[in-house]
Amino acid sequence: MPKKLSRGQLIAATAPFLAAAPIARVAWPDGAEAAAPSATHFGHNHDHAGQGHAAMIGEAVPSIARSAEIDALLIPPKVLPYRPGRVREYELVAVDKEIEVAKGVRFPAWTYNGTAPGPVIRATEDDLLRIHFANAGSHPHTIHFHGIHPANMDGVFEVVQPGRTFTYEFPAKPYGMHLYHCHATPLKKHIHKGLYGAFIIDPKKPRKPAQELVMVMNGFDTDGDGENNFYAVNGPAFYHARHPITVRRSQTVRIYLANLTEFDLLNSFHLHGDFFRYYPTGSTEQFEYTDTVMLTQGQRGILEIDFANTGVFMFHAHQSEFAELGWMGFFNVVD
Ligand code: CU
Ligand code: CU
Repeated sequence: MPKKLSRGQLIAATAPFLAAAPIARVAWPDGAEAAAPSATHFGHNHDHAGQGHAAMIGEAVPSIARSAEIDALLIPPKVLPYRPGRVREYELVAVDKEIEVAKGVRFPAWTYNGTAPGPVIRATEDDLLRIHFANAGSHPHTIHFHGIHPANMDGVFEVVQPGRTFTYEFPAKPYGMHLYHCHATPLKKHIHKGLYGAFIIDPKKPRKPAQELVMVMNGFDTDGDGENNFYAVNGPAFYHARHPITVRRSQTVRIYLANLTEFDLLNSFHLHGDFFRYYPTGSTEQFEYTDTVMLTQGQRGILEIDFANTGVFMFHAHQSEFAELGWMGFFNVVD
């Protein structure tokens, strides 16, 4: 059995701003014991200049190979113009599934439809949402949606046992960026295991066209000590550092952002090289113009970026610790 690394050791070990070699070695637990850096590593690496200290990008990054499943989580379903009386149907199946949360690090997740986060649910305000939920997992689960709906559609009291189904049905409102997650107890465990996702309700008056992305900030406690060992958006650590997101300067980039990180009270999103309009919860026209937003558990909002420059720009949690454990990525802005 490999020895467990403390969170501090893991942070030191996976710091992407240090030399690439130690990261590749300790990113997976098998090699972690041998490669665990000494406490003096940070203070004594001045001679490493030239092989470290730069942010890593592309193939050098210890993340998983490109995955159609993960890529799909980044792109929301298409917005549909408001039409009275429309029904939007989704099927969510809770399944226990081992997922790769960092290169070579597997996590026994509980998922909706096989990924953590689960699929993006999207509707236009006043669409009738009908969500068919089947529990194919080994524990009782529910789906609790944020938003306005009747008490018996709230996913708290109607717990769905393994092998059973439940249909949630309610008009989608209010418009904004929301979220959904399991509300069975113990709640912290059911959420942290992976049962959560983004829930977008579009206003009847459509937002202006944009390159739309969804980012669900999450973390994974892979050693069961109640602290996250890896952080990310949409699943695997460092995924968009290895696979940067190409966007066009000529069109607004709109990011639907939610914080589903367990254990840590706060998470954040910081953009390099530009500012964005931040609409808290996406439910009004009010925005803040900034380059950093802080979200507590369950908080979410919409970012709109009009990139002024082409080039490669980093985005990451401004908690350096989170960034160095996987919550970082790059935009490749092109003309
Ligand atoms: Cu659950
Ligand atoms: Cu919630």
